[in-house]
Amino acid sequence: MRIFSGIQPTGRKHLGNYIGAIRQYVDGQERGDPAIYCIVDLHAITVPHDPQALRRSVYDTLALLLAAGLDPDRCVLFRQSDMPEHTELCWLLSAVTAYGDLTRMHQFKEKSQRQRELVSAGLFFYPVLQAADILLYRTDEVPVGEDQRQHLELARDVAERFNARFGEILTVPRHRIPEVGAKIMDLQDPTSKMSTTTESTAGVIFIDEEPDEIRRKVRAAVTDPGREIVRSSDKPGISNLIEIMAVVRGVNPADVEREFAGRGYAEFKQAVAEAVVEFLRPVRERYRELRPDEEALERTLADGAERARELARPVLADVRRAMGFGPAVRQPV
Ligand code: TYM
Repeated sequence: MRIFSGIQPTGRKHLGNYIGAIRQYVDGQERGDPAIYCIVDLHAITVPHDPQALRRSVYDTLALLLAAGLDPDRCVLFRQSDMPEHTELCWLLSAVTAYGDLTRMHQFKEKSQRQRELVSAGLFFYPVLQAADILLYRTDEVPVGEDQRQHLELARDVAERFNARFGEILTVPRHRIPEVGAKIMDLQDPTSKMSTTTESTAGVIFIDEEPDEIRRKVRAAVTDPGREIVRSSDKPGISNLIEIMAVVRGVNPADVEREFAGRGYAEFKQAVAEAVVEFLRPVRERYRELRPDEEALERTLADGAERARELARPVLADVRRAMGFGPAVRQPV
């Protein structure tokens, strides 16, 4: 089974990325044949960006993925911009992507509203490049968080429309969204997802955050009226902390509710903070070791791109041929 996922090299990566996605990438290494992970720097230019910072952020993200447990010998790990095959397929797929579908993308609507100076055409086209990323590897399964569900649906529609018009060439992928932790919420505003694009980072726990900072942020997390530690729609703050606790401890949310029944919010928050500190500690430490050696990181990316190219070339060749590009293939007589 082919597994593929992508992660943007923008901002510092946070607990939501770790729980919703990166944790699943590591699992995927065991199941994927192969598991393919891409640092999607071309997606990062759809909003204003600083070129030097982009280059550094790719290294930050790579070092973090390695620190979290990705092993370049057991997966294919590469930088999207090293592979022009992605942008070529993106254009080819534009022929079978409905303009109307792109206008309905939630992420485009949200992100375009936040842009002050320019809403780039790239931001509108973002999901087509994402579909190309996935379809270029005949991917079966895509591990992502809940916020990517609609983009995955689009990729499926694009693959189906392509196959209907040009023959069964592309694999229609399915998403893998975790049951618990698919949408980790901001600790200060538990009705919005944890994200680095919010103005304040008071409710965002970064993966490389110092333990005392983690403790401070969890202690200050907004909770809800009442005293019970249970998941419920009128308790978004406590529900979020229960999900976080369940994932970092490797148990079910119901186990967390049972364990903390009858105890106060303050005690619960303290336990969550300590669990998160211990969960992230090994990743933070390993990240500090790996991040400085940019030459080694660059070698890892170059090796990864070489392996990705071997997988991508035959698929792109099939797509080009089916769409009528290149010389006619002579049938043997
Ligand atoms: P990005 O970099 O924004 O997010 C990376 C992954 O983290 C997940 N995620 C979350 N999960 C749970 N709770 C949260 N608060 C949270 N915030 C983010 C995202 O769902 C994602 O899985 N469009 C993608 C990048 C991409 C991609 C692809 C993904 C480009 N091409 C092909 C899959 C396949 C994105 O925005 O990632």
